Amino acid sequence: MRQTRQIDSASGRKPQSDGRLHSRLTGVKRFRIQLEYLFVVAIKNGWRMNRRNILVGAGGALLLAGAGTFAWKSAVGSMADYRNHAGRLRARLPQNPEVVDLIRFATLAANGHNTQPWLFRVEKSVIEILPDHSRRTPVVDPDDHHLFVSLGCAAENLLIAANASGRPGDLETAEGKSGVRFRYSDGQARSEPLLAAIPARQSTRAEFDRRSLPAADMKALEQAGAIPGVRMVILAERQQIDGVRDLVIAGNSTQMADPAFVRELKQWLRFNPRGAMAAGDGLFAAASANPVLPNLLGGIAFERFFTIEGENDKYARHIGTSVGIAVFMSERDDEAHWIAAGRACQRFALTATSLGVKHAFINQPVEVARLRPELAALVGESGKRPDIVMRFGYGPVLPYSLRRPVEAVMVEV
Ligand SMILES: Cc1cc2nc3c(=O)[nH]c(=O)nc-3n(C[C@H](O)[C@H](O)[C@H](O)COP(=O)(O)O)c2cc1C
Repeated sequence: MRQTRQIDSASGRKPQSDGRLHSRLTGVKRFRIQLEYLFVVAIKNGWRMNRRNILVGAGGALLLAGAGTFAWKSAVGSMADYRNHAGRLRARLPQNPEVVDLIRFATLAANGHNTQPWLFRVEKSVIEILPDHSRRTPVVDPDDHHLFVSLGCAAENLLIAANASGRPGDLETAEGKSGVRFRYSDGQARSEPLLAAIPARQSTRAEFDRRSLPAADMKALEQAGAIPGVRMVILAERQQIDGVRDLVIAGNSTQMADPAFVRELKQWLRFNPRGAMAAGDGLFAAASANPVLPNLLGGIAFERFFTIEGENDKYARHIGTSVGIAVFMSERDDEAHWIAAGRACQRFALTATSLGVKHAFINQPVEVARLRPELAALVGESGKRPDIVMRFGYGPVLPYSLRRPVEAVMVEV
C-alpha cells in the first residue's frame, strides 16, 4: 500500500502542484522526470516491486506523458525479445552437430561476472580453450584464479557435448601452457545424462525454499564433483552453513568498501534487455532478480541503493534458505588445478540442474584472500586454497544470462 501511494503522488499530483514549472516542461521531459522519480522511489522501497506494481503505479505518469510506453520500451528494450534471444542461444544440439554447435554448448558454462574469458581455436581433431586476457577482472580476480576455473567449466561442457555427438576425447592441460586442449576422434555417439542440463543450468541468485533433498539426490550431488585433483565438501548442517554465511558477509563487506571492486563490478552490469543483448555478456539485472531500468537510472540506482547492509541482508536470506553449500578445493594451487576445479563445479551444477535443484555461487570468502584460511579450516582442509563456494536448494527459474555469438569467441589457427 505504501508503495502504491507514493507512486500515485509521484506520477500524478506532484508536478501539477507547481503550475509554472509544469507549463515550462515539454511532455517528454516531464515524462522522464516523473518516470525517474517513480523508479527511484521503487528502488528505495527495496527493489521488491514487481513489474505489475510498477505499471499500476506508473499509470498516471504514462497517461500524462502520452508517448511513455514507447519511450520506456525504447530505453530498456523488450523482455520478450530477450527471452527469444536467450532461447536461441540455448537451443538443443541439432541432429548432427558441427564443431561450432559444441562450442556454443561450451560457452553456456558458468563463468565469473559472465565475462566469458575464453577463446576457442579449432584444429583437426583438437579444440583448444584459451584464456582471453582482455576479459580479465583484475580487482576481484588478480591472479586469474577464477578466469581459469571458468575455462574448466567450459571444458566440461565441451567434453559432454562432444561425447554425445560421437567425438569422444580427452581434456589435456600441459605444464607451462595456458588453457585446455580437447583432443577427439570419431566414434559412437554416447548417451550423456548431463547433456540436457547444459542449456537448462543457470546461476539462481534468489531465495530458495528451504525444502530438503531426497537422500538419493544428496548422494548423487556428493558424487557429482568427482574430478581427479579436486576435493568437494558438502556442508548441510545449519551451524556449518551459518559459518559460511558469516564469511560471505565479511567478504562482501570488504569488497563493497573497495571503490575499485564496485567500479569493476559496475562495468559488467547490464541494466536492461537492450544493453544485455547488445553486449551479449555481463550480469543482467533480471537474472539477479532485480528490476530492469534504463541505463541512466540503473547507474543512479546502483550508486545510491547498492549498499553493504542491503547486500549482506540479501546474502543472509539467500544462504539461510539454501539446504547445503558445496566447497571445491583443488590439490594444488596452479592453473591446471584451477581448471580441474572448474570442471568439478560445472559437473556439480549440471547434476543439480538435472535433479531440479538450483545453485548459486557465493565466492566472497575465496575472493577475499584473508578469509580463505578460515573457510579451509571450516571444511577441515586447513592449508588449502578453496576454489569455489556454491549454495544449493530448490528455487525459482530466473531469466537466463546471455552469451556472445560463437563467431566472437573463435580464433584462427
Ligand atoms: C569462477 C566463477 C566465479 C563466480 N563467482 C560468482 C560470485 O561470486 N557471485 C555470483 O553471484 N556469481 C558468481 N559466478 C556465477 C557467474 O556470475 C555466472 O556463471 C555468469 O553470470 C553466467 O550466468 P549463468 O551461470 O546463469 O549461466 C561465478 C562463476 C564462476 C565460474
